[in-house]
Amino acid sequence: MSGFHTLDSADLKGKRVLVRVDLNVPMENGHVSDATRIDRILPTLREIISKGGKAILLSHFGRPKNGPDDANSLKPVAGVLAQHLGRPVAFAPDCVGKAADSAIQHMANGDVLLLENTRFHKGEEKNDPALVQQMAALGDLYVNDAFSSAHRAHASTEGLAHKMPAYAGRTMQAEIEALSKALEKPARPVGAVVGGAKISSKLELLGNLTKKVDFLIIGGGMANTFLAAQGKKVGKSLCENDLLDTAREIMKNAAVNKCQIVLPTDAVVAKEFKAHAHSHVVSVDHVGDDEMILDAGPRSVAEVEAVLTAIKTLVWNGPFGAFEIEPFDAATNAVARTAARLTVEGKLLSVAGGGDTVSALNHAGVAEQFTYVSTAGGAFLEWLEGKHLPGVEALRA
Ligand code: 3PG
Ligand code: MG
Repeated sequence: MSGFHTLDSADLKGKRVLVRVDLNVPMENGHVSDATRIDRILPTLREIISKGGKAILLSHFGRPKNGPDDANSLKPVAGVLAQHLGRPVAFAPDCVGKAADSAIQHMANGDVLLLENTRFHKGEEKNDPALVQQMAALGDLYVNDAFSSAHRAHASTEGLAHKMPAYAGRTMQAEIEALSKALEKPARPVGAVVGGAKISSKLELLGNLTKKVDFLIIGGGMANTFLAAQGKKVGKSLCENDLLDTAREIMKNAAVNKCQIVLPTDAVVAKEFKAHAHSHVVSVDHVGDDEMILDAGPRSVAEVEAVLTAIKTLVWNGPFGAFEIEPFDAATNAVARTAARLTVEGKLLSVAGGGDTVSALNHAGVAEQFTYVSTAGGAFLEWLEGKHLPGVEALRA
């Protein structure tokens, strides 16, 4: 990967390697409910171990505001990481100072140590040079493998990269490579699926994508706002009536940039928002006053599938319909499966990201078949918005 130092050029033997990982994993009742982020850092950790480095892991967890608290401790995560890694992971109750120092003194080459939540120190989110200095004193070099935290300019995600020899870890590298392929120099035509409930949360994203992609496929609740902006009646559907002008503006800019906006032409409507509510398919010109759109209809799905067949690159953020409740997951499932099949057939490069998107693809059973699924939420969105991520920028060679 040009422009970045990777582990290829790092001399790790006997070195204290400070590794910024993202162990901000979802927990339910004290158990890690989705270990994807843990599994994604294993290649980097195994490489450091096999090359004889000492892997000293830094991560945030949650958003603690008042110093240390048990609810936001990384301690339980150390055990889960050890299981996935298949070797012991030591834990130190502070990410700097005496506790960290003495735990590091006890490390042999190839050992792994997890330090406590970086956000227990106020200086982390402030990118305080004093905290950066304290962290830097613990290691010989810095590896950032936390793309999903790279939109934060914090001490452990940004500050440290300027203080020490800095390298992109293997997951960071994979994320940057996948996203660059999808958006910077993509094989064309390129299409984007943008779904989800609201335009308001994705204005910058839509604005940037109309400049970059050839097809912008809009799904989910936000499609209703676009339909309403075209003068269609959307009944009781989710719709941001204060953003109709904004939607028209986006459509105008898309036309100027020769980006074709693909909106649903038919919809699955129901009178109530609940699983298995009585529903039927209508043209988007005939949504009843008492009906709400809960999914794209079969004709829309076929139209989107035709676009997928025509494009070479796809980026995906956000579900089509109310995919959490059946049967309104049908369009998301169908389109996701078609994208996965085209990818497996070698006809499409597909990159997806964002919390809901990953659940939607897992729900459709196809996440594994996409070219790349990002573990990032906010960072993935900011990248698609065309923003520079401080944690990535700081790694540039
Ligand atoms: C995430 O879960 O998206 C990252 O770990 C970043 O967390 P944050 O939004 O609390 O900075
Ligand atoms: Mg977040």
